Amino acid sequence: MFDKPFSQACENNRQPILKILNRVLADKKKLLEIGSGTGQHAVYFAPRLSHLEWHTSDMPDKHSGISAWIKEVAVNNLHQPLTFTIGADGNNIWPIANIDAVYTANTTHIMQPSEAQLMMQQVASNLPSGGIFCQYGPYTFQGRHSSESNKSFDQHIIEKGYGGIRDIEELILWANNMDLVEVVTMPANNFLLVWQSIKSLSHS
Ligand SMILES: C[S@@+](CC[C@H](N)C(=O)[O-])C[C@H]1O[C@@H](n2cnc3c(N)ncnc32)[C@H](O)[C@@H]1O
Repeated sequence: MFDKPFSQACENNRQPILKILNRVLADKKKLLEIGSGTGQHAVYFAPRLSHLEWHTSDMPDKHSGISAWIKEVAVNNLHQPLTFTIGADGNNIWPIANIDAVYTANTTHIMQPSEAQLMMQQVASNLPSGGIFCQYGPYTFQGRHSSESNKSFDQHIIEKGYGGIRDIEELILWANNMDLVEVVTMPANNFLLVWQSIKSLSHS
């Protein structure tokens, strides 16, 4: 029997995240999740945000785990994982059309800086005017970590070859045509960044 992948962090952070998603995604219809990981966030959020279509995505090696979680919840608005690896082969292939929202959790510090930059640019260019991007995770502010534990975590992941925690100012520079409209403080020294696309309708 296939054991579903499990993340304790997802169990801990899903409720505070949902509280914000409920508000900022109230009028959104079609969402892409980047880096769905285990799939636990998707199966918790989609039934509770039943007004929108939730499309999971990740690298192919994560798909069986995500599908195993999806199989256990019978909800029509939750969709099987799309293959989406930002920066793969240096291409720019966006996996789905006509989304008006994007969600990602704990991916920005895992990606290499060039991939995180590409994610900001790709999200910005694929959201219509008024579209929302929710980006959960640890960040630095003007180079300062929000806790000593985040600082150690950052050193640890960089040593392991991941990109490391990104600075808010850096993300703002990369987020062409998106305004950072909210920085919500979350438990465990994390933040939920809420970006809104401001590009003119003629370019959307
Ligand atoms: C720390 S996990 C977070 C998973 C889940 N979102 C969560 O909050 O538990 C990071 C995820 O980002 C994905 N990821 C890493 N690099 C990526 C890239 N370049 N493009 C898309 N996803 C990526 C990984 O496959 C992994 O599922």
